[in-house]
Amino acid sequence: MLDKLKSIREQTLKQLESVADAGALRQIESATVGKKGEVTTILRTVGELPLSERPAVGRLANEIRQELEAAIAAREELIEAQALAQSLEEGALDVTLPGRPVAVGRLHPATQMLRQVYAIWADMGFQVYRSRDVEEDEINFTLLNMPPHHPARDMWDTFHTTTEGVILRTHTSPGQIRAMREYAPEPIRVILPGMCYRYEQITARHEMQFNQVEGLAVGRNIRMTDLKGTMAEFARRMYGEHLQVRFRCSHFPFTEPSMEVDAECALCEGKGCSVCKYTGWLEIGGAGMVHPVVLQNGGYDPRVFSGFAFGLGTERIMMVKHDIQDIRAFWANDLRFLEQF
Ligand code: PHE
Repeated sequence: MLDKLKSIREQTLKQLESVADAGALRQIESATVGKKGEVTTILRTVGELPLSERPAVGRLANEIRQELEAAIAAREELIEAQALAQSLEEGALDVTLPGRPVAVGRLHPATQMLRQVYAIWADMGFQVYRSRDVEEDEINFTLLNMPPHHPARDMWDTFHTTTEGVILRTHTSPGQIRAMREYAPEPIRVILPGMCYRYEQITARHEMQFNQVEGLAVGRNIRMTDLKGTMAEFARRMYGEHLQVRFRCSHFPFTEPSMEVDAECALCEGKGCSVCKYTGWLEIGGAGMVHPVVLQNGGYDPRVFSGFAFGLGTERIMMVKHDIQDIRAFWANDLRFLEQF
């Protein structure tokens, strides 16, 4: 029995010298000094030995158990220290390496432009009124003074849905009807921003979707001079303090009289350049006094109330301000373009 104990001791110490991971160490431990280990078993059965052998076996077994426990603990410490050293080495941090750039998100240039436009109109007392992208034919056209089959409808190439009478709005003007019907007979001063859709040939100047910002003011004694002063003020705040603004006669079925608003080209200051096609002027939008029929459709008595309305194409504004040659860049999802803003 004494020999057996000594050989367990010898063998185990030898194994411990080469063991390198915690799992293997645990195995050695449970095979020797664990609950069912060989040394433990011998200790537990000392009482069954002949009386003369008991003291020597008991003493030696106890010694060996203590020795092995100590050796296992020492080995464990060593393995842990090695693992720590290894992980420190593997995860070594070189603080002199250049940092990795963090990909920071940003607002789309069209959204940035819209917010700039909102801010200018907010300063002038116009609130944002959200209207829907999917619109009824009746509100997009009929109630804006364009009955079915009226040739004026040809000005807007339209996307139809499979539901009869439901279309994608071709302009933000139907929002005028919705805002008026919500607020009549209170006075109104709102802008109606959002995406418009036209079934158009896509070119550098035309997209089939684009943002407009509609404006609507309704009240008593609102006159053409209010419209002109308001548009001129917007142009100055948008493009520059010293800019001239001009109004050209035009036609829209929902305004009377109607006009196009031009601002002096901010790039060449009216001298003529490729952006303004050598005219010195840039179109900023359509506008006019709200047509009496439209006022009535919105719930206002045109004998008492009047109003003005305008529609701005905000991607166009952005193109002028940043000399962007191709409107398709806005929705092409090319980061080389988007990350410039
Ligand atoms: N809705 C017109 C368009 O899309 C613009 C406009 C708005 C004109 C309001 C006059 C008044 O072309």
